[in-house]
Amino acid sequence: MIGKRPLLVFCALLLSAAAGCATARPNQTERLGKLLFFDTRLSTPPGQSCAACHMPEAGWTGPDSKINAAGAVYPGAVHTRFGNRKPPSAAYAAASPVLHYDKEEKLFVGGNFWDGRATGEILGNPAADQSMGPFLNPVEQNNSDEKAVVDKVCTSEYATLFRDVYGKRICGDVTKAYRAIALAIAAFEASSEVNPFSSKFDVFYENTRKAGLDVEDIDERNRKDFGGLGLDDGELEGLALFNTRGKCSACHVLEPGPGGTPPLFTDFTYDNLGFPRNGRNPWYGMPAGFNPEGAQWVDKGLGGFLATRKDWEGHADANMGKHKVPTLRNVDRKSSPDLVKAYGHNGYFKSLKEIVRFYNRRDGKPAAWPPPEVEKNVNTAELGDLRLTDREEDAIVAFLKTLTDGTMRR
Ligand code: HEC
Ligand code: HEC
Repeated sequence: MIGKRPLLVFCALLLSAAAGCATARPNQTERLGKLLFFDTRLSTPPGQSCAACHMPEAGWTGPDSKINAAGAVYPGAVHTRFGNRKPPSAAYAAASPVLHYDKEEKLFVGGNFWDGRATGEILGNPAADQSMGPFLNPVEQNNSDEKAVVDKVCTSEYATLFRDVYGKRICGDVTKAYRAIALAIAAFEASSEVNPFSSKFDVFYENTRKAGLDVEDIDERNRKDFGGLGLDDGELEGLALFNTRGKCSACHVLEPGPGGTPPLFTDFTYDNLGFPRNGRNPWYGMPAGFNPEGAQWVDKGLGGFLATRKDWEGHADANMGKHKVPTLRNVDRKSSPDLVKAYGHNGYFKSLKEIVRFYNRRDGKPAAWPPPEVEKNVNTAELGDLRLTDREEDAIVAFLKTLTDGTMRR
């Protein structure tokens, strides 16, 4: 958990660098959201907080090497129950807009979850809609109903803070109180503590702006102009490739985030990259009551969600197998140097090198990877045969490692 003090230290070091530092002191709602996020009482049986699957020190995702190295799906509060996906980062996700269909671009943008089903339509905020899910999900925190969660919050040590923020009578209205809990968590997820913009890249980013340069322009010819601003030569080469032949920035964008923050490395759109299924996903073995399709289950992503919506079912086919473009911030952040991390919606990939190699050579012959989990809609225009050398793959990985928050302390 990041305490208040280290954050202030980052800010002092960053000087004017981080967009978030002006509001570094958390407000009451954010403080409440943090207490909720880390409260292990809010599960049945008690013991599992949101942080169990979204640990800050592991980049706000799962902190267990053994799990990450295998199915990459975390057990719920009832330890024999599993969901079906890898936890994405809970940081830098709150800026996602309400899920909508962009008619001009002809694609879906926004929402939370790999498949966008936390649309934001209920509370006007995908992160808040998302927060209403895990508490009641039987394969996650497993509370019986909203009232069970509200009762726990209203008898907690921070119940007074809850009433201070949402009004003296909030505990008397279960629906309102449950939504208030979700909104507080979303406020924490949007706070400068969760989104500190304190990586090596962020220092470099600020320096480039001061020097009148724009990272969106960087390429393999002009990258020397960006030297001496905080990234070393290899990292700069990686960034240049990220923005040119690697094509990464087509989806993990380098433009400022909503509200003018430094880049979030996602445009909140959806794509099917043809990642193979992860055969070790424990969901395949879950009882039929949870997973009626058993080992035949296929993760349809956004298309699967759209098919459940009368207003959007016509778009389902074109979006089968697509998953949300995740932020790349903190992809290499580790709670200990030997932590194994998992990448992609099903955690198939276990290192940054592996995943970059897949982007580079997916379509090579003979095929080096199993077939895509969903054959439909696989993107062949922006990845699969990038013709990067082994050394260039390494440069991209070196760049991805500069996206770890807190490295400012060095
Ligand atoms: C048992 C593990 C587990 C617990 C507990 C858990 N999550 Fe998650 N979280 C996940 C998984 C898995 C996903 C992806 C699910 C999906 O896409 O279907 C996810 C997705 C998310 C996302 C979406 C991020 C994005 O980019 O779309 C956010 C935000 C999040 N969780 C926050 C929370 C909060 C807040 C809590 C507590 C109320 C919580 N999680 C509890 C596993 C967990
Ligand atoms: C066409 C859009 C697109 C392009 C181009 C692209 N990505 Fe991605 N990236 C995605 C999507 C979508 C996912 C999630 C896919 C899934 O899980 O099925 C993803 C996932 C990732 C992940 C896993 C993150 C996590 O938290 O699990 C990494 C790392 C990554 N991309 C890095 C890169 C790099 C490096 C490049 C360039 C070589 C790149 N991406 C190019 C869309 C893209």
